[in-house]
Amino acid sequence: MTEFNPITEATAPGKIILFGEHAVVYGRPAIAAPISQLRARATVSPSSSNNCYLIAPDLNRHNRLQDLPDDDALALAARLVLKAGQIETIPDVTIRVNSQIPIASGMGSGAAIAAAIIRALAQHLNRADLQSNEMVSALTYEVEKIHHGTPSGIDNTVVAYEQPIYFVRQSPQNQIEPFTVAAPLRFVVADTGVRSSTKVAVGDVRRQYSQQPAQFARIFDECGRIAQDARQAIEAGDVQRVGQLMTKNHAWLQTMTVSSPELDNLVAAALQAGALGAKLSGAGRGGNMLALVENAEMETAVRAALTQAGATAVLTTVLS
Ligand code: PMV
Repeated sequence: MTEFNPITEATAPGKIILFGEHAVVYGRPAIAAPISQLRARATVSPSSSNNCYLIAPDLNRHNRLQDLPDDDALALAARLVLKAGQIETIPDVTIRVNSQIPIASGMGSGAAIAAAIIRALAQHLNRADLQSNEMVSALTYEVEKIHHGTPSGIDNTVVAYEQPIYFVRQSPQNQIEPFTVAAPLRFVVADTGVRSSTKVAVGDVRRQYSQQPAQFARIFDECGRIAQDARQAIEAGDVQRVGQLMTKNHAWLQTMTVSSPELDNLVAAALQAGALGAKLSGAGRGGNMLALVENAEMETAVRAALTQAGATAVLTTVLS
């Protein structure tokens, strides 16, 4: 009989996409990084009743696993662990989830919650084989299909590996490359307060691509080239260039129609306050934007300008 660990806990970070969102779905390179100060947490503890419970107070959820439909993201994360581990009897446990990552705002909250559940349950079951970054990423990818429709795989990868990555979606295996950050990059991240569905934004880009394949292929190529140039600039410590490339990437995202008046307003406010560059991050139409700042003084000015322009939350994260 397997020995189960009494109480296990795991966390996973939020993420930002620095370059290449949307184009990454079509095989162009993109760059993403974890935000380690914003985390999702899952704990698994033995349950006194003969049931597996899933409790997520932030999401107003308190359910028995057996009552949840196939397309429930939290339930799917737990079921995938049992399936991958060939565990036929559902364990009598309570899985409790909470998260500091705002939902539907381009910060990978869905992927982080799934990854935390997967790790905590795999630990509880004493299954080291289910806890590798590769396995957590692969199972999280399956859950991401519920949120995204056709996920590129970048969110689950950055959340599971918890390091900045250069990512290319490709067969049979995605290209996942960690890279060096020669000079620290200080990003101010600001929330428009507008919730937006990744699935809808990704679906709209797909529709436009099918209507204007040549134009959209060119836009995706441009975004891919920007991500390649940005990697070089990051590895060379050329912070000014990284900023210029962000603003350029934002313009292409506008052409794809995934920006919004609120995002454009925050991008303009950051640039006006002196940011080296600014862009939306994630699926767009709402959610968060990023501004690159050079030093603490610029950070203070940009944070104030973003708040003044209506950002509902502002945080700073440093990539080094
Ligand atoms: O989950 P979000 O909102 O950060 O969007 C993910 C980025 C996209 O490129 C728009 C979709 C994907 O699967 O890569």
